[in-house]
Amino acid sequence: MSFHPLMEYDPGRFHHSERKIADEGAPFVFTPERRAKLDEILTEYPPERKRSAVLAALYLVQEQEGYLTANGMRHVAGILDLTPAEVEDVATYYVMFFKEKVGKYVLQVCRTLSCALNGAERVTESLSEKLGIKVGETDPSGMFTLLEFECLGACDRAPVVMVNNEHWHEHATPESCSKLIDDIKAKGEAALSGCHLKVEK
Ligand code: FES
Repeated sequence: MSFHPLMEYDPGRFHHSERKIADEGAPFVFTPERRAKLDEILTEYPPERKRSAVLAALYLVQEQEGYLTANGMRHVAGILDLTPAEVEDVATYYVMFFKEKVGKYVLQVCRTLSCALNGAERVTESLSEKLGIKVGETDPSGMFTLLEFECLGACDRAPVVMVNNEHWHEHATPESCSKLIDDIKAKGEAALSGCHLKVEK
């Protein structure tokens, strides 16, 4: 049956969705430590409001899997009495959740005004050149992913590159970023200096 008298009905053309939100991933359950952490977080909410812990739960999935898998989101839905679609809605709204595998170190260059005016584009280009990948890609070794991000709240230290949602590399230049990559390759996590918000406490 066609919905238009002059158009032929072609189910392959009109009823085929390419929509794919997340990889299925491996079967997922939280490790006992992460489950205990989530249970502790849940004590902060009234039982009928436990769905409010969805962001915290998704962070734990990402911490465990490296990104959000469909199985991980279903597991969260089961614990929080949500539908998988509700969890997926949250996960796809926030940019800090990865929907596919990323490298061990995720470099996110801020591209908002202060950083843009202070040379963020040159920083991104230099990182792209150094790693041999475009924005949005992971290098063949699986070590680095390069992304752009919006304001990281450190505009007075622009341009800023955030590493793994946790470490800030401030007043970034092509030269300092090249050194950052070399240092990470040589020393791993120890090369990351943390975040000024923590350092200044
Ligand atoms: S504009 Fe880059 S940190 Fe605010």
